[in-house]
Amino acid sequence: MDKASLLLLVFYNILFILPVCCASNDTITPSQPLKVGQTLISARQIFELGFFRPGNASELYVGIWYKFDPGRRIVWVANRENALSARDLASRLIISSDGNLKLLDGKQNTIWSTNASAHSNSTIAVLRDDGDFILEDNVSGATLWESFYYPSDTVLPNMTGMKNVSMSWENENDPAPGNFFNTLSDEKPPQAFTCNGTKPYWRGGPWNGWQFIGIPDATKGYANGMSLIPNNQTGAAYMTFSTFNESYIYIMVILPTGMLELLQWEGQQNQWNRLWAAPQHPCDVYGTCGPFTACSMSGSPICECLKGFYPQSNEEWSKGNWTSGCLRRTELMCTTNSSNLTYKASKPDGFWKLSQMKLPDHYLYLYDKTDQGGCSQWCLSNCSCLAYAYPDGIGCMVWVTHLVDIQQFSDGGEDLYLRLANSELGVKKRYTAIIISVLSISVGLLVGLLICCIKRWKANRRALRHSDTHIREQKSETSKCRIMKGFRIKCMVKSLFVSERNGTVRDISQEDVQEGPASAKGSSELPIINFNRVKRATNNFSEADKLGEGGFGAVYKGKLEDGQLIAVKRLSSHSGQGMEEFKNEVMLISKLQHRNLVRLLGCCIQGEEKIVILEYMKNKSLDKFLFDRTKRLKLDWAKRFNILQGIARGLLYLHRDSCLRIIHRDLKASNILLDDDMNPKISDFGLARTFRVTQELANTLRVVGTFGYMSPEYAMGGLFSEKSDVYSFGVLLLEIISSKKNTGFGYHEKYLNLLGYAWQLWNDCKAPELLDPSLADSCTPAEVIRCIQIGLLCVQDHAADRPTMSNVVLMLSSSESEMELPQPRQPTFTFQSLLESEHFQSGVCTFNVSTNEVSISLVEGR
Ligand SMILES: *[C@@H]1O[C@H](CO)[C@@H](O)[C@H](O)[C@H]1NC(C)=O
Ligand SMILES: *[C@@H]1O[C@H](CO)[C@@H](O)[C@H](O)[C@H]1NC(C)=O
Ligand SMILES: *[C@@H]1O[C@H](CO)[C@@H](O)[C@H](O)[C@H]1NC(C)=O
Ligand SMILES: *[C@@H]1O[C@H](CO)[C@@H](O)[C@H](O)[C@H]1NC(C)=O
Ligand SMILES: *[C@@H]1O[C@H](CO)[C@@H](O)[C@H](O)[C@H]1NC(C)=O
Ligand SMILES: *[C@@H]1O[C@H](CO)[C@@H](O)[C@H](O)[C@H]1NC(C)=O
Ligand SMILES: *[C@@H]1O[C@H](CO)[C@@H](O)[C@H](O)[C@H]1NC(C)=O
Ligand SMILES: *[C@@H]1O[C@H](CO)[C@@H](O)[C@H](O)[C@H]1NC(C)=O
Ligand SMILES: *[C@@H]1O[C@H](CO)[C@@H](O)[C@H](O)[C@H]1NC(C)=O
Ligand SMILES: *[C@@H]1O[C@H](CO)[C@@H](O)[C@H](O)[C@H]1NC(C)=O
Ligand SMILES: *[C@@H]1O[C@H](CO)[C@@H](O)[C@H](O)[C@H]1NC(C)=O
Repeated sequence: MDKASLLLLVFYNILFILPVCCASNDTITPSQPLKVGQTLISARQIFELGFFRPGNASELYVGIWYKFDPGRRIVWVANRENALSARDLASRLIISSDGNLKLLDGKQNTIWSTNASAHSNSTIAVLRDDGDFILEDNVSGATLWESFYYPSDTVLPNMTGMKNVSMSWENENDPAPGNFFNTLSDEKPPQAFTCNGTKPYWRGGPWNGWQFIGIPDATKGYANGMSLIPNNQTGAAYMTFSTFNESYIYIMVILPTGMLELLQWEGQQNQWNRLWAAPQHPCDVYGTCGPFTACSMSGSPICECLKGFYPQSNEEWSKGNWTSGCLRRTELMCTTNSSNLTYKASKPDGFWKLSQMKLPDHYLYLYDKTDQGGCSQWCLSNCSCLAYAYPDGIGCMVWVTHLVDIQQFSDGGEDLYLRLANSELGVKKRYTAIIISVLSISVGLLVGLLICCIKRWKANRRALRHSDTHIREQKSETSKCRIMKGFRIKCMVKSLFVSERNGTVRDISQEDVQEGPASAKGSSELPIINFNRVKRATNNFSEADKLGEGGFGAVYKGKLEDGQLIAVKRLSSHSGQGMEEFKNEVMLISKLQHRNLVRLLGCCIQGEEKIVILEYMKNKSLDKFLFDRTKRLKLDWAKRFNILQGIARGLLYLHRDSCLRIIHRDLKASNILLDDDMNPKISDFGLARTFRVTQELANTLRVVGTFGYMSPEYAMGGLFSEKSDVYSFGVLLLEIISSKKNTGFGYHEKYLNLLGYAWQLWNDCKAPELLDPSLADSCTPAEVIRCIQIGLLCVQDHAADRPTMSNVVLMLSSSESEMELPQPRQPTFTFQSLLESEHFQSGVCTFNVSTNEVSISLVEGR
């Protein structure tokens, strides 16, 4: 190598290595803030962060974009809710004295802050090459905050995307959070959703391990590198997508219109190209067609009733409004009264296979049915089962409420097995009937036409002989004839429908829901009640009318002018919330209506006063019965089982709604109210969400909730999810069975609490001893054992091991022969010191050998 080329090499190295090593201005330090006009650039020059003005807005924001993108598509915004004035050129992004990243305007007001709780005096903020903007401790290297946890409208590769929702911009010129957001449901398997406020707008269908099966064009590449990562702590999952090939860059964006787009960077054209988007057709929009209706893009009309169903309203249907859906033509055999011998003698229900379908929403997943035969068998033997499917990668899915958001694809899709009455399955008979009626109609038409023609022909001939006026008369006769024809056909069609309507039943499960958040009727406003009226109703919040004191404030009994009894909950006034926020939250909660939830009748806001008006329950709360020696006798086993099922259903309703997901967080016996017939109604739901108060009021990091009902991950780490409610439900269940409080458990010194005691009994195969002795006469032993097992499954340490509420409902309503339960794992958290572990065998108990009376009768039970 000669000197010249060596020099050249050195020169090249200087030219190319230097900019990389020294232009490392990807960091904000306490001494080096970011000013308007400056930008941070990630180490490999991929991302850029700085101040920007969206569209032609006159506001200034801090955001991140790809450095190579001349169009500067913004992928993340810091201060999306709080803009800077574009003229405020003295704004700065700084590391403040408490170690947080802060955006200050020219007057030193804080516009936005990272609010990280950990303090450090040596923090720096770094823009990384994957687009993550990180606040970290320069000494320990610990990450204090990262922008990936707070996505805007864009999901970047490797971003743990839908773990946190990504939310659309208000419009192109305003990055404030808009109506639409993406989220991943906590079902198992999870589904991707786009929500419009509280309503589902688009649904991607369940995840089968490599793609969402509700998207038929999945193979076109949207699923490239997508994966779902289970969160073992909360039992939920989040999604991420990475690109296999580094040279392709994909991003997923939710537009202000609700359209979800997958964009790919096209280097040669210097622009983003759209690879895939949803929804693109009315069929893709959630619930375009109502229950028991399938949407088909090529259909005309697009909505069509499933086989064996007919439109609920022909009038709406013909106007192109399909939202009310279809009704079942022939009742399923098992929903008829089993004592009806005529029916018993008829043939069993069967399945009708629908191919290439987008499977309906609201499924249950039966992990223990490992083949299609078992799945089908389960569905046939369970009365509430409406359909099942057995897709690759998932397994047995069943539907027990209604079937909504179904689509008929022309390509791809899954098989759906629809349960129908036997008579609906007979294809040939129906076809011949249709053929016969079609034939008779056409014959009728032909005959009619012939008669008309003959008459006309005769008339014409007569007309030749007679005057012109006569012809006019005959003409009107022919048109009459045409009308008659039309009438006859209409009549026939009508009578067909009338006869089909008879003998159909409404889907019973739907009656549970009086009016859901997804229903269109929910627009009625929640009444705002005047403070003085509330004062009068409660005798100025007199102590005599006080019903109790809850976590969120005192509850009073009240009586409105018209005599209606109400419960008035006066919330502690130290809420950190504004009036509008409070109102919005209460509005949301008021839309949740279910017969196992206490109804919110109104609210009242005045000054610092925030009051909610609730249904009054004469029988007060469950704890008043359960933990009282005499009153507990009023609750026999049937009532308790009914209470358990009611609570489970109410909780499922709170959890299941895919967009407005409510976690109760404080489920306990005193929050279960009982109506006149001892039906349970959950109260205080959603208030935990509304009132972050308690958190702020409390001394340190106290979590909302009640000791004894809190799941380990919640009590220790403040992590909560639906599974924390499942835990509380398990505790409540064991309390209802045993009439004992979980905490303050003085029954047996050896055990810390009821859970420990229940587990010990379970492990010693003595589970029936947990039962309140007063129930021995009224109980069904098999049900008791099953309930205890469900309770223990719900209180397992690992959130992921616990069943979801939908599974709990299913377990409670099915018998052992229909659905085998897994064995619960020992809850360690509840034990702490005690217990000689060699005493524990982890075998499976069969409750047939025992000295106990209950257990003996159990053998007879099943
Ligand atoms: C980082 O470098 C770019 C040019 O390479 C410059 O435009 C920008 O202002 C610099 N940022 C800071 C904070 O110094
Ligand atoms: C710019 O602003 C005007 C109104 O101020 C609006 O009509 C126009 O659509 C905006 N242009 C863009 C590209 O957003
Ligand atoms: C930080 O806290 C303030 C006050 O509590 C709040 O207004 C702001 O929205 C929070 N910022 C972020 C990014 O969460
Ligand atoms: C940070 O604080 C510690 C003590 O709390 C001190 O020893 C250290 O010098 C400080 N570092 C800086 C960079 O100020
Ligand atoms: C995404 O993560 C993978 C594996 O962790 C890594 O190889 C890849 O470089 C990352 N991609 C980006 C764009 O950061
Ligand atoms: C961060 O740490 C490095 C090495 O430990 C040091 O050189 C640098 O000055 C530190 N930066 C700040 C802002 O403390
Ligand atoms: C996003 O997720 C992280 C980790 O699960 C959590 O700490 C953070 O609070 C979430 N952010 C929002 C806005 O919910
Ligand atoms: C989103 O919801 C709002 C309010 O319910 C409604 O007015 C709007 O039409 C919906 N948008 C779409 C695209 O459905
Ligand atoms: C979650 O649990 C699964 C199975 O129990 C395990 O394979 C996986 O590694 C766990 N993930 C994390 C992040 O702990
Ligand atoms: C469609 O019908 C439902 C009642 O089934 C009604 O509530 C809704 O307003 C109708 N929609 C339109 C667009 O007419
Ligand atoms: C039994 O079912 C048949 C068929 O629907 C019905 O006609 C009859 O009324 C039913 N009888 C009773 C006692 O319910």
